[in-house]
Amino acid sequence: MKSKSRASATGCVPCRFAAIGAAVVALAGSFAYAAGWLTPSRLTTYRIIDQFQANAGAHAGYRRNHAKGLCVEGYFDSNGSAASITRAQVFAPGRTPIIGRFAIPGGNPSAPDASVPVRSFALLFTQQNGEQWRTAMNSTPVFAVRTPEQFYQQLVAAQPDSHTGKPDPAKLKAFNAANPETQPFQQWVKAHPASSGLANAAYYSINAFRFIDASGNAHAVRWSVEPETPYAPVDPQEKNDPDFLSKQLDEQLKHGNVRWHLIVTLANAGDPTNDATLQWPADRQRIDAGTVVLERSAPQSDGVCRDVNFDPTVLPDGIRTSDDPLLAARSAAYAVSYQRRTREEALHGAPSISQP
Ligand code: HEM
Repeated sequence: MKSKSRASATGCVPCRFAAIGAAVVALAGSFAYAAGWLTPSRLTTYRIIDQFQANAGAHAGYRRNHAKGLCVEGYFDSNGSAASITRAQVFAPGRTPIIGRFAIPGGNPSAPDASVPVRSFALLFTQQNGEQWRTAMNSTPVFAVRTPEQFYQQLVAAQPDSHTGKPDPAKLKAFNAANPETQPFQQWVKAHPASSGLANAAYYSINAFRFIDASGNAHAVRWSVEPETPYAPVDPQEKNDPDFLSKQLDEQLKHGNVRWHLIVTLANAGDPTNDATLQWPADRQRIDAGTVVLERSAPQSDGVCRDVNFDPTVLPDGIRTSDDPLLAARSAAYAVSYQRRTREEALHGAPSISQP
């Protein structure tokens, strides 16, 4: 009996090889599909990241977007005011350590600071229970596009022309005309000249999230950090120094800590949570949840933020993603960028351009 069943188990050796072969082909097929090789017109994360590289070059070891930046460290002092709408430990009264990163958008790690009107601030909070909250914010309350597809098309439109080395204004104009959702962003940027430094800018989550309270109820929110340092527009003299942003912040931190208030804005019923191009009306309830305090900065080449992926979907219990389609696309894109840059770092060492 025993030898018979063994014989039948091994009876059809070719069948077993065929089954293994089929499984391998299916697996390879799903990888090929995920990578977009079978459907070249389908938008994949790899195409988005390749397009960043086509626009700005591939700079080994650097983020594919927001490549130029610096690391910071400090803490968040929660006053407990947001604890009624989220059970996340970070919003209970008390102190949570943070590491962060300031940057400017774009894939060129040597871009002059004045080349873009936007600055960014990413934060990683580590709660006492070990859970983390990561957020990557920009200095505009709205984003230029609503969907990942539009984001990709915008990158394509902004690709530098091979003859001039600059984006073709006609292509950008055509993209904007075909995508009127870009207007609120453009109007906002026109009406709000960039701040003179990193410390006197406000930074916004832009995407909506959900806070979950102790009873399990969800509250649609956006958050921002608003500076204690008064806003002043960028000075034309400053613009001549390509690295004025980091130099100025390093100098400020030599003389003391730099602070922002963490403001949570609650949506009213019906406010859009899936459209990052639209602001909510200004009368929405705002909760000042506490103070973000920065104590020191360090170059990103060896600072604590270098190997952090500020994926905005890494959230502690008490904070969840919304139905904004950009969030999943961001998570996937940051992961591919992270994989490429940390692999390059492992192969060639940390980025050699000395960044402020
Ligand atoms: C589909 C839309 C988006 C794509 C594909 C995208 C892509 C990327 C990529 C690839 C990185 C580099 C990540 C890394 O290597 O760690 C990055 C960084 C960043 N993005 Fe986005 N992004 C998108 C939307 C947004 C939005 C809506 C915001 C505004 C809140 C934003 C803010 C940032 C910030 C602040 C960083 C720098 C994070 C850091 O300092 O490490 N992005 N983005």
